[in-house]
Amino acid sequence: MGLIKVHDKEFEIYITSKAIEQRVKEIAEAINKDYLGKKPLFIAILNGSFMFAADLFRHLTIEAELCFIKLASYKGMKSSGKVVTTIGLEEDIFGKDVVIVEDIVDTGKTLHGFLPKLLHQQPNSLKIATLLHKPEATAYPLQLDYIGFAIPDKFVIGYGLDYDGQGRNLKEIYQVK
Ligand code: IMP
Ligand code: MG
Repeated sequence: MGLIKVHDKEFEIYITSKAIEQRVKEIAEAINKDYLGKKPLFIAILNGSFMFAADLFRHLTIEAELCFIKLASYKGMKSSGKVVTTIGLEEDIFGKDVVIVEDIVDTGKTLHGFLPKLLHQQPNSLKIATLLHKPEATAYPLQLDYIGFAIPDKFVIGYGLDYDGQGRNLKEIYQVK
């Protein structure tokens, strides 16, 4: 009954596809209102946000552009820790109204490291839309402008989110048991 096993862990249904669909529609409606008369550029962060980005974009009635980028974090050559690299942002965002599309903001580290690089290019405005947010886990200050669901600090999969590569195709969001 809504229980699945992925790799070594058991997951149970946490957010139904119907609830996701409804919430994504509401976010799109808010964006349609906020960006009326503008032509925002949506930058979706791969891989996790592909499904949210597709569904969100489908509900937009304003003129809008969409591109995808990948943020890779890896251990640097020095022991200074993680480095975040941008892959594939080819668009010139100078003067544009940019909306980042994320699947989930957990610690906030990924976006916190990436935003200065975008701001450096002087967009006209920069907002963040994330389907999920784990407020208890967020350790880096970030202003999240559109949030689908605030959830507890527990691992989730489905609707684009994976556990070691698996689970992205699930229609519902599942939480680890
Ligand atoms: P952050 O930098 O800690 O905010 O984490 C950002 C990325 O980690 C997200 O975009 C996801 O790809 C991944 N992530 C964080 N929490 C989860 C989760 O519960 N399930 C699947 N992926 C997650
Ligand atoms: Mg992600």
